[in-house]
Amino acid sequence: MPALALGDAEAGKRIVMQGNDQGATACVSCHGADGKGNPAAGFPRLTGLSDKYLIKQLQDYRRGTRRNPIMQPIAAALAQQQLLDVAAYYAGKAPSANAEGTPPDAGRTLALRGDWDNTIPACVSCHGPGGRGVDPYFPALAGQHAGYIQSQLEAWRKGTRHNDVNDLMRVVAERLTQTQIQAVSEYFAAQPAVKPEPGAEQ
Ligand code: HEC
Ligand code: HEC
Repeated sequence: MPALALGDAEAGKRIVMQGNDQGATACVSCHGADGKGNPAAGFPRLTGLSDKYLIKQLQDYRRGTRRNPIMQPIAAALAQQQLLDVAAYYAGKAPSANAEGTPPDAGRTLALRGDWDNTIPACVSCHGPGGRGVDPYFPALAGQHAGYIQSQLEAWRKGTRHNDVNDLMRVVAERLTQTQIQAVSEYFAAQPAVKPEPGAEQ
């Protein structure tokens, strides 16, 4: 059974297209008309993510547990209901297939089996088969842009993103080498985006 959307997707669409008059810029100007993002500019794809994950991220930018100079003022300029509405809009859209490049073998091994010599679990053990995501809290990595995935792993290492429950991602990111970060990011970016699995809490 699909979870009840918390916001109004139609109201969300207006903000996504036009922004609001409180200083939130139209989301489409960066995340694209179709929500596919922009790999060169580092703007992530927003389709294929659950409303709960999207709401959490916007709240995390507001409270500063996720620090980013572009997204923090935008999230702060959204009223609570508007935040729920934009999340409902993006969560209701099918994941756009972004698959980029050829997946490197080293990235595949790490993603699917982990690197137990260095106590790194397989990414898919949390992010679902092929990195398709497990709704609502484990975001899809399949078809997300490589440069963005890489930037987030680095953000956890630097501490500019510390919004993960129980430090689940910080622990993983800290153990990865720079070469592994690049390989695993390229691996997931090359996977076709598919609808996430519903998780137990859904
Ligand atoms: C000026 C460009 C710009 C605009 C406009 C913009 N964003 Fe973003 N957005 C970004 C960037 C850059 C990031 C990545 C930031 C980071 O590294 O944390 C991002 C990240 C996000 C994320 C996190 C995605 C994830 O996978 O965790 C969400 C959610 C988001 N934006 C929602 C929105 C919404 C909703 C709007 C419109 C109200 C919007 N953005 C407008 C540039 C923009
Ligand atoms: C123990 C569970 C777990 C494992 C294993 C795990 N992750 Fe995560 N990951 C999470 C959770 C939970 C989040 C969401 C954190 C939040 O709320 O922002 C996340 C978020 C992410 C994000 C941010 C996505 C976005 O849209 O911003 C990236 C990138 C990521 N993980 C990459 C990886 C990679 C690569 C691996 C394997 C090397 C991995 N993860 C292994 C639990 C895990």
